[in-house]
Amino acid sequence: MAHDIPFELTALVQRCSGPRSRAWDVTDKAAEMERRGEDIIHLGVGDPDFDTPKEIVDAATKSMTSGRTHYSPIQGEIALRKQIASHASGLYGQTVEPDRIVVFPGAQCALFSTFLCLAETGDEVILLEPAYATYDAVVRAGGADAVRIPLDPESGFALNVDQIQAAITPRTKAILLNSPGNPTGTVFVQSAINELLSVCHQNGIWLVSDEVYWSMVFDGEHHSPLSIPGSERNVVVVNSLSKSHAMTGWRIGWVIAPTSLARGLVNLVQALLFGVSQFSQDAAAFAIENDLESVHAMIDTYRRRRDRFCAELTGIKGVNVYRPDGGMFLLVGVGDLGMDGDQFANELLAETGVAVVPGFAFGASVEKFVRIGFLRDEEIMSDAAQRIRRFVENRDCT
Ligand SMILES: Cc1ncc(COP(=O)(O)O)c(C=O)c1O
Repeated sequence: MAHDIPFELTALVQRCSGPRSRAWDVTDKAAEMERRGEDIIHLGVGDPDFDTPKEIVDAATKSMTSGRTHYSPIQGEIALRKQIASHASGLYGQTVEPDRIVVFPGAQCALFSTFLCLAETGDEVILLEPAYATYDAVVRAGGADAVRIPLDPESGFALNVDQIQAAITPRTKAILLNSPGNPTGTVFVQSAINELLSVCHQNGIWLVSDEVYWSMVFDGEHHSPLSIPGSERNVVVVNSLSKSHAMTGWRIGWVIAPTSLARGLVNLVQALLFGVSQFSQDAAAFAIENDLESVHAMIDTYRRRRDRFCAELTGIKGVNVYRPDGGMFLLVGVGDLGMDGDQFANELLAETGVAVVPGFAFGASVEKFVRIGFLRDEEIMSDAAQRIRRFVENRDCT
Protein backbone atom coordinates (compact mmCIF):
# COMPACT_ATOMS: atom_id res chain seq x y z
CA MET A 1 0.00 0.00 0.00
CA ALA A 2 1.28 3.49 -0.89
CA HIS A 3 1.95 5.90 1.98
CA ASP A 4 2.06 9.68 1.93
CA ILE A 5 5.58 11.05 2.15
CA PRO A 6 6.37 12.26 5.68
CA PHE A 7 5.65 15.97 5.93
CA GLU A 8 4.50 18.67 8.28
CA LEU A 9 1.97 21.29 7.36
CA THR A 10 3.55 24.73 7.11
CA ALA A 11 3.47 27.00 10.13
CA LEU A 12 1.04 29.28 8.26
CA VAL A 13 -1.52 26.50 7.83
CA GLN A 14 -1.02 25.27 11.38
CA ARG A 15 -1.83 28.76 12.60
CA CYS A 16 -5.15 28.52 10.70
CA SER A 17 -6.12 25.30 12.51
CA GLY A 18 -6.71 26.39 16.11
CA PRO A 19 -9.42 25.05 18.43
CA ARG A 20 -12.02 27.32 16.81
CA SER A 21 -11.94 25.25 13.64
CA ARG A 22 -13.91 22.74 15.83
CA ALA A 23 -16.70 25.30 15.98
CA TRP A 24 -18.76 23.56 13.33
CA ASP A 25 -18.70 20.06 14.90
CA VAL A 26 -22.30 20.35 16.16
CA THR A 27 -23.44 21.51 12.72
CA ASP A 28 -21.63 18.59 11.06
CA LYS A 29 -23.22 16.18 13.52
CA ALA A 30 -26.64 17.70 12.75
CA ALA A 31 -26.10 17.21 9.01
CA GLU A 32 -25.20 13.56 9.63
CA MET A 33 -28.34 13.06 11.78
CA GLU A 34 -30.43 14.66 9.03
CA ARG A 35 -28.98 12.24 6.48
CA ARG A 36 -30.17 9.42 8.77
CA GLY A 37 -33.68 10.87 8.53
CA GLU A 38 -33.89 12.76 11.86
CA ASP A 39 -35.91 15.96 12.18
CA ILE A 40 -33.26 18.68 12.46
CA ILE A 41 -33.62 22.48 12.68
CA HIS A 42 -30.39 24.08 11.52
CA LEU A 43 -29.77 27.37 13.31
CA GLY A 44 -25.98 27.08 13.18
CA VAL A 45 -23.98 28.06 10.09
CA GLY A 46 -24.94 31.52 8.82
CA ASP A 47 -26.33 30.37 5.50
CA PRO A 48 -29.96 31.46 5.54
CA ASP A 49 -32.92 29.81 3.91
CA PHE A 50 -33.45 32.61 1.36
CA ASP A 51 -32.58 31.96 -2.27
CA THR A 52 -30.85 34.69 -4.24
CA PRO A 53 -33.52 37.00 -5.77
CA LYS A 54 -34.52 35.77 -9.23
CA GLU A 55 -33.62 39.06 -10.95
CA ILE A 56 -29.99 38.60 -9.83
CA VAL A 57 -29.90 34.99 -11.02
CA ASP A 58 -31.33 36.17 -14.38
CA ALA A 59 -28.60 38.81 -14.65
CA ALA A 60 -25.96 36.08 -14.14
CA THR A 61 -27.60 33.81 -16.72
CA LYS A 62 -27.68 36.64 -19.25
CA SER A 63 -24.04 37.38 -18.54
CA MET A 64 -23.00 33.75 -18.95
CA THR A 65 -24.93 33.23 -22.18
CA SER A 66 -23.39 36.39 -23.61
CA GLY A 67 -19.95 34.87 -23.16
CA ARG A 68 -18.82 36.49 -19.91
CA THR A 69 -16.95 33.37 -18.86
CA HIS A 70 -13.36 34.54 -19.18
CA TYR A 71 -10.70 35.96 -16.88
CA SER A 72 -11.60 39.24 -15.27
CA PRO A 73 -9.28 42.18 -14.54
CA ILE A 74 -7.31 41.23 -11.40
CA GLN A 75 -8.64 44.16 -9.36
CA GLY A 76 -12.23 43.37 -10.35
CA GLU A 77 -14.54 44.42 -13.20
CA ILE A 78 -14.62 48.21 -13.51
CA ALA A 79 -18.44 48.16 -13.86
CA LEU A 80 -18.73 46.40 -10.48
CA ARG A 81 -16.14 48.62 -8.81
CA LYS A 82 -18.04 51.70 -10.04
CA GLN A 83 -21.28 50.35 -8.56
CA ILE A 84 -19.57 49.56 -5.25
CA ALA A 85 -17.95 53.02 -5.25
CA SER A 86 -21.23 54.77 -5.90
CA HIS A 87 -23.07 52.70 -3.29
CA ALA A 88 -20.30 53.29 -0.72
CA SER A 89 -20.21 57.03 -1.41
CA GLY A 90 -23.95 57.16 -0.67
CA LEU A 91 -23.73 54.95 2.41
CA TYR A 92 -20.79 56.73 4.01
CA GLY A 93 -21.32 60.29 2.73
CA GLN A 94 -17.63 60.35 1.64
CA THR A 95 -16.41 59.98 -1.92
CA VAL A 96 -15.03 56.51 -2.62
CA GLU A 97 -13.20 56.05 -5.95
CA PRO A 98 -13.19 52.72 -7.85
CA ASP A 99 -9.38 52.55 -7.67
CA ARG A 100 -9.64 52.06 -3.88
CA ILE A 101 -11.74 48.92 -4.38
CA VAL A 102 -10.48 45.36 -4.89
CA VAL A 103 -12.97 42.55 -5.60
CA PHE A 104 -12.59 39.20 -3.83
CA PRO A 105 -14.49 35.90 -3.81
CA GLY A 106 -16.26 36.80 -0.55
CA ALA A 107 -15.45 38.82 2.56
CA GLN A 108 -13.60 35.87 4.10
CA CYS A 109 -10.90 35.93 1.44
CA ALA A 110 -10.89 39.73 1.57
CA LEU A 111 -10.19 39.66 5.32
CA PHE A 112 -7.48 37.03 4.96
CA SER A 113 -5.76 39.00 2.20
CA THR A 114 -6.04 42.31 4.05
CA PHE A 115 -4.29 40.94 7.13
CA LEU A 116 -1.62 39.23 5.01
CA CYS A 117 -0.87 42.73 3.68
CA LEU A 118 -0.97 44.52 7.04
CA ALA A 119 0.44 42.37 9.83
CA GLU A 120 3.20 39.80 10.24
CA THR A 121 5.43 38.20 12.87
CA GLY A 122 6.10 40.61 15.70
CA ASP A 123 2.87 42.56 15.12
CA GLU A 124 -0.33 42.54 17.15
CA VAL A 125 -3.92 42.89 15.96
CA ILE A 126 -6.69 43.72 18.41
CA LEU A 127 -9.86 41.63 18.15
CA LEU A 128 -13.01 42.37 20.08
CA GLU A 129 -14.54 39.33 21.73
CA PRO A 130 -16.97 37.72 21.04
CA ALA A 131 -15.34 37.61 17.62
CA TYR A 132 -16.43 35.89 14.40
CA ALA A 133 -14.94 32.40 14.49
CA THR A 134 -12.40 32.80 11.68
CA TYR A 135 -10.83 36.08 12.86
CA ASP A 136 -8.10 34.37 14.85
CA ALA A 137 -6.92 32.36 11.85
CA VAL A 138 -7.17 35.36 9.55
CA VAL A 139 -4.99 37.50 11.80
CA ARG A 140 -2.54 34.79 12.83
CA ALA A 141 -1.92 33.31 9.35
CA GLY A 142 0.68 35.95 8.52
CA GLY A 143 2.38 35.51 11.89
CA ALA A 144 0.79 38.36 13.89
CA ASP A 145 -0.56 37.80 17.41
CA ALA A 146 -4.27 38.29 18.06
CA VAL A 147 -4.93 40.32 21.22
CA ARG A 148 -8.48 39.66 22.33
CA ILE A 149 -10.49 42.20 24.31
CA PRO A 150 -13.73 40.91 25.84
CA LEU A 151 -16.76 43.16 25.47
CA ASP A 152 -19.13 43.27 28.40
CA PRO A 153 -22.41 41.35 27.88
CA GLU A 154 -24.12 43.59 30.43
CA SER A 155 -23.35 46.66 28.26
CA GLY A 156 -24.87 44.83 25.27
CA PHE A 157 -21.32 44.07 24.01
CA ALA A 158 -20.80 47.80 23.40
CA LEU A 159 -17.53 49.23 22.06
CA ASN A 160 -15.29 50.16 25.00
CA VAL A 161 -12.66 52.53 23.64
CA ASP A 162 -10.80 52.97 26.97
CA GLN A 163 -10.29 49.23 27.20
CA ILE A 164 -9.00 49.07 23.63
CA GLN A 165 -6.70 52.03 24.16
CA ALA A 166 -5.19 50.34 27.21
CA ALA A 167 -4.35 47.28 25.10
CA ILE A 168 -2.43 49.23 22.43
CA THR A 169 1.33 48.61 22.43
CA PRO A 170 4.12 49.69 20.05
CA ARG A 171 3.48 46.35 18.27
CA THR A 172 -0.21 47.05 17.53
CA LYS A 173 -0.78 47.22 13.78
CA ALA A 174 -4.54 47.10 13.45
CA ILE A 175 -7.90 46.80 15.19
CA LEU A 176 -10.65 44.68 13.67
CA LEU A 177 -14.23 45.91 14.12
CA ASN A 178 -17.42 44.11 13.16
CA SER A 179 -20.74 45.94 13.27
CA PRO A 180 -23.46 44.72 13.17
CA GLY A 181 -21.57 41.98 14.94
CA ASN A 182 -21.44 38.25 14.50
CA PRO A 183 -22.29 36.66 16.92
CA THR A 184 -23.58 39.56 19.07
CA GLY A 185 -25.79 41.51 16.67
CA THR A 186 -24.53 44.65 18.38
CA VAL A 187 -24.44 47.83 16.28
CA PHE A 188 -21.65 50.09 17.51
CA VAL A 189 -22.63 53.74 17.97
CA GLN A 190 -21.01 56.38 15.76
CA SER A 191 -19.58 58.40 18.67
CA ALA A 192 -17.61 55.41 19.96
CA ILE A 193 -16.38 54.61 16.44
CA ASN A 194 -15.25 58.25 16.03
CA GLU A 195 -13.37 58.06 19.31
CA LEU A 196 -11.73 54.80 18.29
CA LEU A 197 -10.68 56.20 14.93
CA SER A 198 -8.94 59.15 16.58
CA VAL A 199 -7.09 56.71 18.86
CA CYS A 200 -6.02 54.84 15.69
CA HIS A 201 -4.87 58.08 14.05
CA GLN A 202 -2.87 59.09 17.14
CA ASN A 203 -1.14 55.71 17.23
CA GLY A 204 -0.69 55.13 13.48
CA ILE A 205 -2.91 52.04 13.56
CA TRP A 206 -5.19 50.57 10.88
CA LEU A 207 -8.90 50.21 11.59
CA VAL A 208 -10.36 47.31 9.62
CA SER A 209 -14.16 47.30 9.56
CA ASP A 210 -16.02 44.11 8.59
CA GLU A 211 -19.47 45.31 7.51
CA VAL A 212 -21.02 42.22 5.92
CA TYR A 213 -24.22 42.75 7.96
CA TRP A 214 -24.45 46.50 7.15
CA SER A 215 -27.94 46.25 5.64
CA MET A 216 -29.36 44.24 8.54
CA VAL A 217 -29.83 46.91 11.19
CA PHE A 218 -33.22 46.60 12.89
CA ASP A 219 -32.93 49.30 15.55
CA GLY A 220 -31.20 52.55 14.55
CA GLU A 221 -28.72 52.85 11.67
CA HIS A 222 -25.54 51.29 10.38
CA HIS A 223 -22.41 53.20 11.45
CA SER A 224 -18.94 52.97 9.97
CA PRO A 225 -15.52 54.54 10.46
CA LEU A 226 -15.51 55.22 6.72
CA SER A 227 -18.11 57.94 7.18
CA ILE A 228 -15.61 60.03 9.16
CA PRO A 229 -13.60 62.65 7.19
CA GLY A 230 -9.91 61.64 7.10
CA SER A 231 -10.76 57.94 7.39
CA GLU A 232 -9.48 57.23 3.89
CA ARG A 233 -5.92 57.25 5.36
CA ASN A 234 -6.19 54.24 7.66
CA VAL A 235 -9.64 52.64 7.42
CA VAL A 236 -10.23 49.45 5.47
CA VAL A 237 -13.80 48.31 4.89
CA VAL A 238 -14.49 44.66 4.09
CA ASN A 239 -17.89 43.85 2.68
CA SER A 240 -19.82 41.35 0.56
CA LEU A 241 -23.21 40.50 -0.87
CA SER A 242 -23.39 37.16 0.94
CA LYS A 243 -25.81 38.30 3.63
CA SER A 244 -27.32 41.51 2.24
CA HIS A 245 -28.53 39.80 -0.97
CA ALA A 246 -28.62 36.10 0.06
CA MET A 247 -25.63 35.43 -2.20
CA THR A 248 -23.42 33.28 0.03
CA GLY A 249 -22.59 30.84 -2.76
CA TRP A 250 -21.71 33.46 -5.37
CA ARG A 251 -18.54 34.42 -3.51
CA ILE A 252 -18.56 38.16 -4.10
CA GLY A 253 -16.87 40.49 -1.64
CA TRP A 254 -14.58 43.49 -1.72
CA VAL A 255 -12.19 45.71 0.16
CA ILE A 256 -12.25 49.51 0.21
CA ALA A 257 -8.75 50.67 1.14
CA PRO A 258 -6.26 53.49 0.60
CA THR A 259 -4.85 53.12 -2.94
CA SER A 260 -1.40 52.04 -1.66
CA LEU A 261 -2.97 49.09 0.17
CA ALA A 262 -5.32 48.38 -2.76
CA ARG A 263 -2.23 48.01 -4.99
CA GLY A 264 -0.72 45.50 -2.55
CA LEU A 265 -3.98 43.55 -2.47
CA VAL A 266 -4.03 43.40 -6.27
CA ASN A 267 -0.55 41.81 -6.24
CA LEU A 268 -1.80 39.25 -3.74
CA VAL A 269 -4.96 38.54 -5.78
CA GLN A 270 -2.79 37.98 -8.84
CA ALA A 271 -0.81 35.27 -7.06
CA LEU A 272 -3.72 33.80 -5.11
CA LEU A 273 -6.85 34.02 -7.26
CA PHE A 274 -6.19 35.57 -10.63
CA GLY A 275 -9.53 37.33 -10.40
CA VAL A 276 -13.16 36.48 -9.68
CA SER A 277 -15.62 35.02 -12.20
CA GLN A 278 -17.05 37.57 -14.62
CA PHE A 279 -20.68 36.44 -14.45
CA SER A 280 -20.71 36.54 -10.65
CA GLN A 281 -19.37 40.08 -10.81
CA ASP A 282 -21.95 41.10 -13.42
CA ALA A 283 -24.73 39.73 -11.21
CA ALA A 284 -23.24 41.60 -8.24
CA ALA A 285 -23.15 44.86 -10.20
CA PHE A 286 -26.82 44.34 -11.07
CA ALA A 287 -27.66 43.58 -7.43
CA ILE A 288 -26.01 46.77 -6.18
CA GLU A 289 -27.39 49.00 -8.94
CA ASN A 290 -31.01 47.91 -8.50
CA ASP A 291 -32.83 48.59 -5.27
CA LEU A 292 -34.75 45.30 -5.25
CA GLU A 293 -38.03 44.95 -3.41
CA SER A 294 -37.25 41.30 -2.58
CA VAL A 295 -34.08 42.38 -0.76
CA HIS A 296 -36.04 44.81 1.43
CA ALA A 297 -38.65 42.14 2.11
CA MET A 298 -35.92 39.74 3.24
CA ILE A 299 -34.56 42.24 5.76
CA ASP A 300 -38.10 42.79 7.11
CA THR A 301 -38.43 39.03 7.49
CA TYR A 302 -35.24 38.88 9.54
CA ARG A 303 -36.58 41.62 11.78
CA ARG A 304 -39.84 39.72 12.35
CA ARG A 305 -37.94 36.50 13.10
CA ARG A 306 -35.78 38.33 15.61
CA ASP A 307 -38.74 39.94 17.34
CA ARG A 308 -40.77 36.75 17.66
CA PHE A 309 -37.90 34.39 18.50
CA CYS A 310 -36.46 36.70 21.18
CA ALA A 311 -39.93 37.08 22.68
CA GLU A 312 -40.43 33.31 22.73
CA LEU A 313 -37.09 32.60 24.42
CA THR A 314 -37.37 35.39 26.94
CA GLY A 315 -38.74 34.06 30.18
CA ILE A 316 -37.27 30.56 29.92
CA LYS A 317 -35.68 30.22 33.32
CA GLY A 318 -31.86 30.08 33.17
CA VAL A 319 -31.71 31.25 29.55
CA ASN A 320 -30.35 34.79 29.11
CA VAL A 321 -31.31 36.44 25.85
CA TYR A 322 -29.08 39.28 24.54
CA ARG A 323 -31.41 40.86 21.99
CA PRO A 324 -29.45 41.92 18.89
CA ASP A 325 -29.86 45.31 17.16
CA GLY A 326 -28.95 43.81 13.80
CA GLY A 327 -27.35 40.93 11.92
CA MET A 328 -28.74 37.41 11.77
CA PHE A 329 -27.69 35.97 15.12
CA LEU A 330 -28.57 35.98 18.77
CA LEU A 331 -26.26 35.17 21.68
CA VAL A 332 -27.90 33.31 24.53
CA GLY A 333 -26.26 32.80 27.93
CA VAL A 334 -26.73 29.29 29.35
CA GLY A 335 -24.31 29.43 32.31
CA ASP A 336 -27.20 29.69 34.79
CA LEU A 337 -28.25 26.20 33.68
CA GLY A 338 -24.98 24.86 35.11
CA MET A 339 -23.40 24.05 31.75
CA ASP A 340 -21.21 25.61 29.13
CA GLY A 341 -22.26 26.34 25.56
CA ASP A 342 -20.59 23.23 24.15
CA GLN A 343 -22.49 20.89 26.49
CA PHE A 344 -25.74 22.80 25.88
CA ALA A 345 -25.32 22.68 22.08
CA ASN A 346 -24.45 18.97 21.99
CA GLU A 347 -27.23 17.90 24.36
CA LEU A 348 -29.78 20.20 22.71
CA LEU A 349 -28.97 18.62 19.34
CA ALA A 350 -29.10 15.07 20.67
CA GLU A 351 -32.40 15.57 22.54
CA THR A 352 -34.31 17.98 20.29
CA GLY A 353 -32.60 18.14 16.87
CA VAL A 354 -31.96 21.91 17.14
CA ALA A 355 -28.43 22.80 15.93
CA VAL A 356 -26.76 25.91 17.40
CA VAL A 357 -23.10 26.99 17.69
CA PRO A 358 -21.27 26.74 21.03
CA GLY A 359 -19.91 30.05 22.31
CA PHE A 360 -16.27 28.94 22.55
CA ALA A 361 -16.16 29.45 18.78
CA PHE A 362 -16.26 33.19 19.46
CA GLY A 363 -13.87 33.35 22.43
CA ALA A 364 -13.24 32.15 25.96
CA SER A 365 -15.34 34.95 27.47
CA VAL A 366 -18.49 33.52 25.86
CA GLU A 367 -17.90 29.83 26.57
CA LYS A 368 -21.15 29.81 28.51
CA PHE A 369 -23.16 31.11 25.57
CA VAL A 370 -24.54 29.66 22.36
CA ARG A 371 -25.20 31.43 19.08
CA ILE A 372 -28.57 30.94 17.43
CA GLY A 373 -29.21 32.16 13.88
CA PHE A 374 -32.49 33.58 12.50
CA LEU A 375 -32.02 31.20 9.63
CA ARG A 376 -35.40 29.51 9.20
CA ASP A 377 -38.91 30.83 8.72
CA GLU A 378 -40.90 32.16 11.65
CA GLU A 379 -42.90 28.97 12.26
CA ILE A 380 -39.81 26.77 12.26
CA MET A 381 -38.00 29.24 14.53
CA SER A 382 -41.01 29.11 16.83
CA ASP A 383 -40.87 25.30 16.85
CA ALA A 384 -37.15 25.58 17.75
CA ALA A 385 -37.99 27.96 20.62
CA GLN A 386 -40.52 25.45 21.99
CA ARG A 387 -37.98 22.62 21.73
CA ILE A 388 -35.42 24.75 23.60
CA ARG A 389 -38.02 25.51 26.28
CA ARG A 390 -38.84 21.82 26.74
CA PHE A 391 -35.14 20.88 26.77
CA VAL A 392 -34.41 23.40 29.53
CA GLU A 393 -37.53 22.58 31.57
CA ASN A 394 -36.90 18.81 31.35
CA ARG A 395 -33.46 19.26 32.82
CA ASP A 396 -34.89 20.98 35.86
CA CYS A 397 -31.43 22.15 36.94
CA THR A 398 -32.07 25.83 37.55
C1 LIG B 1 -18.63 38.70 10.39
C2 LIG B 1 -18.40 37.95 9.12
N1 LIG B 1 -17.43 38.35 8.31
C3 LIG B 1 -17.18 37.71 7.15
C4 LIG B 1 -17.93 36.61 6.77
C5 LIG B 1 -17.63 35.92 5.48
O1 LIG B 1 -18.57 36.30 4.52
P1 LIG B 1 -18.44 35.93 2.98
O2 LIG B 1 -19.51 34.92 2.69
O3 LIG B 1 -18.65 37.20 2.24
O4 LIG B 1 -17.08 35.37 2.76
C6 LIG B 1 -18.96 36.15 7.60
C7 LIG B 1 -19.74 34.97 7.24
O5 LIG B 1 -20.53 34.45 7.97
C8 LIG B 1 -19.20 36.85 8.81
O6 LIG B 1 -20.18 36.47 9.64
